Order: sequence, then C-alpha cells, then structure tokens
Amino acid sequence: MQVFRVAIAGFGGVGRATANLLLERRQRYRQVYQAEVRLVAVCGSRSGVADADGLEADRFDTLEVGLSGPDFIEASGADVLIEAGPSDFRTGGPGLAYMRAALSAGRDTIAISKGALVHSGRELQEIAHASGAMLKLSGAAAAALPTVDLIQHSLKGCEVLEIEGILNATTNFLLDAMTTQGLGYEEALRQAQAGGFAEADPRNDTEGWDTASKLLIIANFGLGANLAMEDITVEGIHSVTVEQLNEWRAQGLVPKLVGSLKAANGNIRASVGIRTYPLHDPLANVRGKDKAIRIITDAMGETVAIGSGTEPLATAAAALKDFEHILAARSGSPSLFKDAP
Ligand code: HSE
Repeated sequence: MQVFRVAIAGFGGVGRATANLLLERRQRYRQVYQAEVRLVAVCGSRSGVADADGLEADRFDTLEVGLSGPDFIEASGADVLIEAGPSDFRTGGPGLAYMRAALSAGRDTIAISKGALVHSGRELQEIAHASGAMLKLSGAAAAALPTVDLIQHSLKGCEVLEIEGILNATTNFLLDAMTTQGLGYEEALRQAQAGGFAEADPRNDTEGWDTASKLLIIANFGLGANLAMEDITVEGIHSVTVEQLNEWRAQGLVPKLVGSLKAANGNIRASVGIRTYPLHDPLANVRGKDKAIRIITDAMGETVAIGSGTEPLATAAAALKDFEHILAARSGSPSLFKDAP
C-alpha cells in the first residue's frame, strides 16, 4: 500500500479539526485509494510545538519550535502539506513560506488560509507548475461552498459570464439578524464571534476584505484571471444604517454583501458591496451564516449553490476533499474519482 505522509502547518481550530478528520478517515483512504495515510508533523505558531489537544500524541510527530518553512518540510518528510495558518492578504501571512517551500520541493500543497493565495497566488502557481506539485485551495475559496470546483468541473467548457457570491458568513449573519430579528449591530457581531465564524479582527469581515479575498481566489484560480486586491472595488456593511435596512424591508428587498465578477471583452471587473434582492431570488433566501454563489455561463445558464456547513468541520472537510483528489491522482488506485484533478 502506498504511504502518504501529511504535515499540517498552522494548528488552531481549523488545523486541529483537519488533523482529527484526516485521522478519522484513514480507513476510508485505505479502502478507496489503497493509501496508507500518516499525519507525520504539525506546527503552530502560538504554541510553538503543537500540543496534542484532541489528538492522541503518538499519532503524529511534533517538531521543534521555530522551524522555517523549508526546515519544517524537510524535517517532517511530508509528501503533502496542509497549510492552515493565520491569513493575511497584505503580507501573505506565515503560510506563504511553508507553501513556497513545499511546492518548490515538489510536495503537493493544500491551502486553507487565503493570505498567501491572495498575495502571491501567481508565483505559487508557477512554482507548482515548475515542480509538478499540485496546489489545491477549496478550503480557502469559501470552504464548504463549492466555488472553484464548480467552475472547473461542473461547468467545465462553459464560458463564465458573471458570478455573484455571498462569500462571507459573518456579514450574511449580521444583515440577516439585523433585518429579521431586529438585533443591533454590536449584539449580532457578538453572536457571530461567539459562533466562531467572525474573524478575530471583524473588520476583515465587515469591511468586505474577506469577501474580496475569496472573490480574488475564485477569479484567479477559477477563471485564470490575474487580479490584485487593488483591482477590486471593496465596500463593506459597517456603515449600513437601521433606517436603510427598514427602507429595504418596506420595499420587499433583502440586502446581502456580495462579491461579483463580470467578464466583458476579455476583462474581468470585480467588486464587493451590498446588493438588494427581491424575496423570490434564491440569494435573498440565504439565511444566517450560510453562503451562496450564482454563476451565469453561456451554455449552462444559471447555477446557484448554497452552502451551510458548520465551522471548523466544514473547512476541514473542504481541505480533505482536495486531499482525496490528490490521493486519486497519486495513488495509482482504480478510483471512481480518477479523472478529477
Ligand atoms: N470570517 C469568515 C466568514 C470565515 O465569516 O465567512 C473565514 O473565511
């Protein structure tokens, strides 16, 4: 049986959930892919060396504090890196060094955090191309909601004309709670933070940056665009007033923070801002912390997907969907999923 050694860089809630799910699914990997999967190393910046909360310590190795990206990849001997560190689109975040190192060494890499992909996505794609490593990113592109997958597989061959996405759970939850439950902004935000889906700095959510990051990843990795953050017009929900919400409700309109892409004459225009939808529109009915995407193509018309997975499990599952595609491609097993990249 072929052995696959996995290392996880970034060991907060999502990294831990991914480790646990990976270990739970080892029997499935044996049965479906004839693959023996081992979690060989984890590292987290806050604890230095990962501790074993929620995991049996003997099921993985811990590595020394402060290993650099290349040293971590080398010391772990991993075949596959899962990167789940903190996301920072302005610098690429700590994950960038790990991903560069893994891809340069020809190790397949699964990104969960968005920062490195937003900051240096083109460079990472080029490194992967040169080394033959696979770079996967379902966990970074709205996770439980299929986005890039939908474009690249379900709608393959079609020309994408337009995309609209409710890509951020926090802002959807805030607008929904304020509109339908009459909650104040602060109380709704407190609930979103207690629910674990609002970011530590909620401005990333409320000012539209998280939506813009996901939109950029969808455009660049799904549609082959080459957008930078500066190319996206970004407006958040932080300045919306109760009066404005009441006015929309009186008109039968539902406000959503939406990332949108429009393709025209070979160019892609991207923006993030509030749009309002009539009650019969599927996007108007995306409630609470759910997310959704509408894709309009030339030949398959309109496709709408709604995702309602719970964090951090849903993000872990999205990353491990990528992992199964890697197993299918690398294991040499006669899998049903063999054609999927
Ligand atoms: N804060 C994000 C959201 C989750 O609310 O959707 C991480 O992308």
